Amino acid sequence: MRVSVWRGAESGHFQTFSVPRLESQTILDVVTHIQRALDPTLAYRYACRVGMCGSCAMTVNGQARWTCRTHVDKVAQDGRLEIAPLSNLPVVRDLVTDMTEFFDKWARARGRFVGAATRKDDFARVSPSSPERRLADAGIECIGCGVCYSSCDVVSWKPDYLGPAALNRAWTLVNDVRDTDNRARLAAVAGDAGCHACHTHMSCTERCPKQISPTASIAGLKRAAMDAALKGEFE
Ligand code: SF4
Ligand code: SF4
Ligand code: FES
Repeated sequence: MRVSVWRGAESGHFQTFSVPRLESQTILDVVTHIQRALDPTLAYRYACRVGMCGSCAMTVNGQARWTCRTHVDKVAQDGRLEIAPLSNLPVVRDLVTDMTEFFDKWARARGRFVGAATRKDDFARVSPSSPERRLADAGIECIGCGVCYSSCDVVSWKPDYLGPAALNRAWTLVNDVRDTDNRARLAAVAGDAGCHACHTHMSCTERCPKQISPTASIAGLKRAAMDAALKGEFE
């Protein structure tokens, strides 16, 4: 199999390797073979290899994907692969991107739980069937892989945009009945760089490997932010 791999940082070039084709081979297996057998200087990132840590995302034949759960069979075109770093993020080296701004945006969207209970309080009981819990559950399995962020055209056009992952995180917290920070959170996501900048292109939802719909979460935030504005909560 001929595999082209990005080498360098923002400016760089594709380098082609010849990699043996194996049964049930994943894209991460291919990259690992190159690094272990052909060129130990290749930089890439992974941790769990089972779709949990979110660290292995790359651009494969033009599309952002989690590489540990993507089989070569599914994506190789005419036996060829092109593997590049994620888009919309600065490249550190080869296949490694700098995720700082991605996670800084989670902080800007107030994507951190703020509770009021103390360790002396009893456990909060939230019914699994309550509407709020169901809405939170729909987005809670995000692994922070950046696939949606890398696939979003609005992030490309407007680098300040908080992006689908941070906004999805904010929406799960808006629906967490134990959280006490919603007024500030909705104000944080209602600005120019927040939920209203989303053009509902759906690329994030189409590409999310965890079948989350950031588009639906962002639509929920738009409604909640509008509701808060009409109630004068942002004054
Ligand atoms: S929403 Fe999906 S694509 Fe986006 S970071 Fe979370 S798991 Fe990855
Ligand atoms: S739906 Fe919104 S957040 Fe998702 S890719 Fe489109 S513009 Fe980006
Ligand atoms: S290596 Fe952890 S999600 Fe792929």
